[in-house]
Formats: sequence, C-alpha cells, structure tokens
Amino acid sequence: MTAATTLAEALRVPVELGERSYDVWVGPGVRHRLSDVVPDDVGRVAVVTQAAVADAGITVDPGVEHRVFITDNGEHIKTMGAAEELCREFAQWGLTRRDAVVAVGGGAVTDLAGFAAAVYHRGIRVVYVATTLLGQIDASVGGKTGVNLPEGKNLVGAFWQPSAVLCDTEALDTLPPEEMRSGLGEMAKYHFIADANLHSLALPERIARCVAIKAEVVAADERESGRRAVLNYGHTLAHALEAHGGYDLRHGEAVAVGLVYAAELAHRTGRIDTGRVEEHRRVVAGYDLPTSLPADADIDALVELFNRDKKAVDGVTFMLDGPNGIGPVTGLEPALLRETLEAIR
Ligand code: GLY
Repeated sequence: MTAATTLAEALRVPVELGERSYDVWVGPGVRHRLSDVVPDDVGRVAVVTQAAVADAGITVDPGVEHRVFITDNGEHIKTMGAAEELCREFAQWGLTRRDAVVAVGGGAVTDLAGFAAAVYHRGIRVVYVATTLLGQIDASVGGKTGVNLPEGKNLVGAFWQPSAVLCDTEALDTLPPEEMRSGLGEMAKYHFIADANLHSLALPERIARCVAIKAEVVAADERESGRRAVLNYGHTLAHALEAHGGYDLRHGEAVAVGLVYAAELAHRTGRIDTGRVEEHRRVVAGYDLPTSLPADADIDALVELFNRDKKAVDGVTFMLDGPNGIGPVTGLEPALLRETLEAIR
C-alpha cells in the first residue's frame, strides 16, 4: 500500500465558481486527508457508501462524529426511493443544516448522496471521495447531482456543488478492469476537448489534468446553458447504445465508439480530415477500447434513439470536431447518420 499523500503532496485542482468554489485533490491515499477538507464548523457527518467500496477496504474518517450509511451496489441505487430512504435515515439520526454528507464511491454514490444532500433541509454541505476513474474525472466534479426515473436517466436532480473532492488514486487499484474501462472512455474524450498530450502524463497527473479541463468548462457554464455541451462529445451515440441496451458495453466503451462515430461524421461533413479521424481511432484504441459498433447493432433503432436524447433541445444535435474545435451541429440527414453508422460497424 502506498503511503497516504498529505494535502501538500497531492495535486490540487481549483474549481472556480465564486462563493461555490472548491478544490479537487488528487493522489494516492488522499482519502485519509478527509478531516482536512471537511469544513471546520461541521458537527456531524453522514458517510454514504456502497457495500463493494467498504468491502474493498476503502473507508474514511471525517474526524468528527459520523455514521455510515451503506447502499446497494450498482447504478440502480439512483432512485427517488433511495434518496428518500437516505433523507429519512438522516432525519432519524437528527442530521441538521450544520452537518454534512460525505459520499464515498463512484458516480452512482456521488450522484445519489449529492442529490440527497442538495434537497435535505433544502441543502446541506457535501464532500465527495471519488474511488472510480469515472467518478474522479467526471461524476464528482461539476455539481450536477441526480437520480433516474423509469422514463430516463438523471431526469430528476439539482445543481449542488460539493465543498471539496478527494480523488484517491490508490482506490483505483481495487477496481475491476471493466470499471476502469468505463473511465478510460471519458479520458479519451478529454484528449479531443483540450489536451492532445494527455497520454504523456502519469496517471495521477492525467487525472488532475482531466479534472482541470472539466473545471474550466464548468466554471464557464455552471448551469449547463452552452459551453458544457462540449463534455457531451461522443455521448449522443453512447446514450443511444445505452438506451437501446443489450450490447454489453460499459459506459466508457460506448463513449469510445461514440468518439469514432463523431469523428467520421465530422469528416463526412467536411469539418475534419482523415488524419484527425485516424487520431480518434488511435487514441481510443490506445486505451484498448472499441472503435467499431457491435456487429448486431440495430442501425434504425439507434437513429430513432438519437431523436430522444434528452440533451437534444433543437432536434438531434451532435457535438462535432472542426477547424475551430468541438461545437454543436444540427440538421444532419438521417441517411448520413445511418450510412456513417454502417461504416463503423
Ligand atoms: N456531477 C457531474 C457534473 O456536474 O458534470
């Protein structure tokens, strides 16, 4: 086991949001510094985590009186019922507005516990200890919290920024390979959004760089009214594949195929050259992620699902690369969408 990083040794990434600003700390064992980032005036802490996280030996000590609330494992915990259950348990324990929630785990835990913190007593403070790669470079940063409805993912939620985020890189050693792959797809995305040299960095530095890229985007568009859409790069196809189901793809793998698809679409609409398409394939394959659609992909169903993407405000919108970087493109013909899907099958 690596010696626990002190905050002075950890990589610090500030998320600049005025009075809602906070720091993200990245390093091995940084979860052991939790008591340094829990705000001084917090009386008690509700630690929310998943059984798998606790079983992997990932525990925390917030340095004040606390109770641990353990949810089931998996994404299915993100329900209104689970949020209500947590809030009821907080109330039964007598958690007050002076207290705080600490969520320890991946994106499902931080989304659920963050949402509970956002609505309990109309909002109490929350700190995230992100233990998965996807959680560290995506879910724990940005302030979007939420739960799923049977009608769709993340349809109920709140913008609620954490007070601090700890990204413990030691926790990644406990991740099953498929969970790691989920994060690698998002990491590949950051190559194209902002940093073609990402691959030259060691893992903690690379995580910190991804967080810094996301922090810059979030600082420019906290409530998702424009610039944040760039974070959706590669996600239109990924969301369609996930909504269709049955393809045995992790989120990161679906995003990986989505990045290649977006590059092919950008090329076919004259926005980027073949060299840039190849770069997409090379980066995605470099993370050992898929660059093509599953052979049994239902093209018509996927095109239909593009229309139902919840981020499609003005008809189907793809974030596509181009001479001025990644931006929204609407009005792509269904025939082009189909033919390009066929081309990457
Ligand atoms: N919680 C993830 C985001 O705000 O993007």
